[in-house]
Amino acid sequence: MKKLAVLTLAAATAVTLMAADGAALYKKCAGCHGAHGEKKALGKSAPIKGWPKEKIVEALKGYKAGTRNVYGMGALMKAQVASLSDADIEALADYISKQ
Ligand code: HEC
Repeated sequence: MKKLAVLTLAAATAVTLMAADGAALYKKCAGCHGAHGEKKALGKSAPIKGWPKEKIVEALKGYKAGTRNVYGMGALMKAQVASLSDADIEALADYISKQ
């Protein structure tokens, strides 16, 4: 029984450590989109600051799938989001929507 409790605790800690952190993830986006998503990335995209979360999730999943390309730079955004998990995308979208 004691062993089980320890294992459960270890698992819970691991999940907490792995929880996606939108602010940390956004750091690599800020160079193009601005510290708060207020810039037109490379003079192309719309400012993404304050977009509804669902709209951001949809856009990022579209780039990841390679189906979104609004300004001819979809491939560049695909490279940005390729390694993100769905949880990362959710956390990022939540963070950006609150800017
Ligand atoms: C190297 C510059 C660059 C980086 C870094 C970058 N982006 Fe982009 N982003 C762009 C460009 C350019 C577009 C327009 C792409 C297109 O043609 O559809 C764009 C488009 C977007 C859009 C859709 C905007 C619109 O007007 O439709 C979202 C949302 C977005 N990026 C989020 C992110 C997130 C989140 C990150 C970090 C994981 C990120 N971007 C990193 C350059 C960048």
